[in-house]
Amino acid sequence: MLFNQIQSLRYVDLFCGIGGFRIATETVCKNYNLKPVCVFSSDWDLDAQKTYQANFNDSPQGDLTKIPVEAIPKHDLLLAGFPCQPFSICGKLNGFEDIRGTAFFDIARILDYHQPEALVLENVKQLVGHQKGKTLQIILEVLRNLGYYVEYKVLNALDFGLPQKRERVFIVGCRQSVRFQWTFPDFEMKSLSTILEKDVPLNYYASERIQQNRIVKYTGKISNEPTIWHENKAGHISAYPYSCAIRAGASYNYLLVDGKRRLTEREMLRLQGFPDEFKVVCSYTAMRKLVGNSVAIPCVRAVLECLFKTVINPLLSPQPSTYY
Ligand SMILES: C[S@@+](CC[C@H](N)C(=O)[O-])C[C@H]1O[C@@H](n2cnc3c(N)ncnc32)[C@H](O)[C@@H]1O
Repeated sequence: MLFNQIQSLRYVDLFCGIGGFRIATETVCKNYNLKPVCVFSSDWDLDAQKTYQANFNDSPQGDLTKIPVEAIPKHDLLLAGFPCQPFSICGKLNGFEDIRGTAFFDIARILDYHQPEALVLENVKQLVGHQKGKTLQIILEVLRNLGYYVEYKVLNALDFGLPQKRERVFIVGCRQSVRFQWTFPDFEMKSLSTILEKDVPLNYYASERIQQNRIVKYTGKISNEPTIWHENKAGHISAYPYSCAIRAGASYNYLLVDGKRRLTEREMLRLQGFPDEFKVVCSYTAMRKLVGNSVAIPCVRAVLECLFKTVINPLLSPQPSTYY
C-alpha cells in the first residue's frame, strides 16, 4: 500500500525509550488528519517500559534482538533512535555482513522483511565522523540495498526552539524516489525562564563546596537572566542562556542552573520538548538516564513534517502546527 493512500499511519517505535518519537508522530499525524497507530514498540530498559506504559497505556516489548521479524506487525513507517554503540568495522566493508551484532542490524532485518514505506532513524552526531565516515556510509548503503532512497542531516535542538544544544544525525529513508527537502520553519528559542521551575526543593541543590568550586572556576560574566553552567571534561566552566546536551551518563553536577542546582525531572523533559502532561513515574536517577537518552521532540516533528510533505498526498493539507 502506498503511503499516500492511507488514512491511518501504522508505525513501529524501536528502541522507544520514553516515547519521544511517539509524541512527535502523534502530533504530526493529527496535523495531517491521519490516525496514528503504533503497532509495535520495544525497549529492554524496565524504567523506560514503565514510563512508556504510564504515558501511552502501551507496554513495549523487550530485547529487540530476540524478537523474530514475523512477530512484528506490518507497518508504514519505522522509527528508531537506535543506541549509539560503536560499530566494529575491521578493514573490509561488506555492508550487511558488517552490521551483524549491532542495533542497526535489527533495524535492517525488520526493514528487509516488512519493507515499510518510510523510516526515520536518529543517532549521535559522532556517527557521521565515525571511522572517517565509513560507518554512516555502510548504514546508508545497507538502506539503499534494501530499496530506500536515503538522506541524512545533523540537526541541533537549538534551531528548533528548545534552549538545549543537542546535535543529532537524522536519517530519512523512503521507498518512493522523491527528493526529500529539509525545509524547516524559523523557530524562536524558548527562554530558560519558561523552562525552569520555581521553588525547587533543596535536595536539587549542589553542596556548598561544589557551588563555591564553580564560582572560583567560572571566569565569565554573571548574567541577570538564568543560565545553565556546564562543566566540560577538562573541568572548564561555561554559562549559557541554554543547556548543553542532557546526557544519560553525565556526572550529577555536569549541568547546574545558575551554578547552583541540578535540573528537575520536569525541566529536563521540557528541555527535550516533552509536554507537561508527561507523567514521571521513576526515580530521579532513572529519569536522568531516560531523558538523556531521549530525543528533542521538535526535531523529530520537523523531520516528520518534511517526510509527510514529501510522501503523503499533498492534498492532505496540514492544520497550523504548534511545536510544544
Ligand atoms: C538512544 S535511546 C532511544 C530513546 C528514545 N528515542 C526516546 O525517545 O526515549 C536507545 C534505547 O534503546 C534501548 N535498547 C538498547 N538495546 C536494546 C535492545 N537490544 N532491545 C530493546 N531496546 C534496546 C535502550 O534501553 C534505550 O532506551
